[in-house]
Amino acid sequence: MNQLQGEVISAVATSSNLGDYETTYEGFNWKDVEKEFSWYETGKLNLAYEAIDRHVDAGRGGRTALLYSDATRDEAFTFEELQHLSNKFANVLRDTGIQKGDRVFVFMPRTPELYVSILGTIKVGAVVGPLFEAFMETAVKDRLEDSGAVAIVTTPSLLSRIKRNELPELQHIIVVGDEVEPGEGIIDFKSAMAGASSEAEIEWVDREDGLIIHYTSGSTGKPKGVYHVHNAMIQHYYTGKVVLDLQEGDVYWCTADPGWVTGTSYGIFAPWLNGATNVIRGGRFSPADWYETIQKYGVTVWYSAPTAFRMLMGAGEDVISKYNLSSLRHVLSVGEPLNPEVVRWGLKVYGKRIHDTWWMTETGGQLICNYPSLPMKPGSMGRPLPGIEAAIIDDMGNVLPPYRMGNLAIKTPWPSMMRKIWNNPAKYEEYFRIQGWYISGDSAYMDEDGYFWFQGRIDDVINSSGERIGPFEVESKLVEHPAVAEAGVIGKPDPTRGEIIKAFISLREGFEPSEELKADISKFVKVGLSAHAAPREIEFKDKLPKTRSGKIMRRVLKAWELQLPVGDLSTIED
Ligand code: WTA
Repeated sequence: MNQLQGEVISAVATSSNLGDYETTYEGFNWKDVEKEFSWYETGKLNLAYEAIDRHVDAGRGGRTALLYSDATRDEAFTFEELQHLSNKFANVLRDTGIQKGDRVFVFMPRTPELYVSILGTIKVGAVVGPLFEAFMETAVKDRLEDSGAVAIVTTPSLLSRIKRNELPELQHIIVVGDEVEPGEGIIDFKSAMAGASSEAEIEWVDREDGLIIHYTSGSTGKPKGVYHVHNAMIQHYYTGKVVLDLQEGDVYWCTADPGWVTGTSYGIFAPWLNGATNVIRGGRFSPADWYETIQKYGVTVWYSAPTAFRMLMGAGEDVISKYNLSSLRHVLSVGEPLNPEVVRWGLKVYGKRIHDTWWMTETGGQLICNYPSLPMKPGSMGRPLPGIEAAIIDDMGNVLPPYRMGNLAIKTPWPSMMRKIWNNPAKYEEYFRIQGWYISGDSAYMDEDGYFWFQGRIDDVINSSGERIGPFEVESKLVEHPAVAEAGVIGKPDPTRGEIIKAFISLREGFEPSEELKADISKFVKVGLSAHAAPREIEFKDKLPKTRSGKIMRRVLKAWELQLPVGDLSTIED
């Protein structure tokens, strides 16, 4: 059991939209949330309309929707301006013949153009596919190919990573830059936008029509395309209200990139559905820049990740004292376990509790959270939100009593639950293999007060700096290196990043272990796949432990690394 169980930080009762947690839970009905939307009457909807245009129609068009800055730009956009820009982009897409259901990818750094592209894509009823700008050739190709994307929005510097001749379905490349070289299928974003009308017909869709595909990693196979529908907005809106505690006049900053589900569900949808002013900071992480951003805009609600908080903690308190952070009212975290130590530190230096929230790409929105109105037990993910039933179940589907560790499972359905894994119905079914439940792949336990405590992943998925990395994808890249015969990849515990990627490698004949070779192999993954997938540690082995069916036993590699007993080896090859 967790020795921290006794510690409780009391709730900040002020200004919580959820009010008293217990009474809100009673009689909660998602149908009541739906009544907030314009589509409640007609049945037809579009998330982009509800997030942007609805505020204009309600006379709030002059409010600031987006505050953007990076090293070279500093811009603000009202809801009305975003309405016009996203209309223009919708028209640019329509001119190419793109229609409802088509997949349109965005592959570029965080800039206003990225957000305009996402909103415009949604307005025409197309399905957005966001990609991290750090992705290299193979990662980009796998995702475009699997989804059958017809268009991609990108920048000149990323263009060479898109292998057009290997992607027959990809017809249009929309390039955002000052100087765009003309070419077949190339559309210059700037000039196309300049020529497009700022009025557009919204594509009114059904609740179950496609909104977004987020590719994420599992323990086997290529990344899977997690498909979400417009109906998810009910959850985005509601959690924005009760978990992010968004209120009139809030300046909200989510630090995540839209390549990650946090950067869309909570970097775009939840804040704008609630009419908040959304801060986007481009460029890389730096403690001074981050604090400067909070001070400059007077950020009131701040959503980030444990890795970032640990790095801020590492940067010390001197840098904090140089900034005025008194605007902060509510601070939240997601992506990995939030260490109690970080919670205590946050309380000391920001004067605020850092509220941990648990959810996944597949769940589309927050499910288990620390609310403003909930007494906090540091180290716990909190409690399921109203309308969500969570439990710990065993592999047979039996609900386990408090303090027993097992599968963290959620009663199906909920509004933002994924609706399919693109092209892979079998994979989708695996999550729902126990009747009535979604099996998360996390292990956890619940205490007698209904708080959930995260224990780990049940599969081999690695969580490094909050990013999910499938070992299989990294291993597949590693064995493409001319020196590598076999590779097994695990997550090795790391104080700042949660886990780092460690690769165990056996070499081909004629290759000798060396530090240069390690560096070269790591670079090979960095250049071929992405920087966050590159192993930070490599260990050469003569042979890797394998099952008789030839599967590398990552569990044994992990036991070696942690100097733990290796357990049952009955399936090992020799
Ligand atoms: C992990 C992120 C502990 C977990 C939105 C989950 C967490 C995976 C927490 C999903 C948390 C997320 N405490 N672990 N509060 N939040 N995780 O899909 O293992 O990138 O299954 O979505 O991150 O990662 P994903």
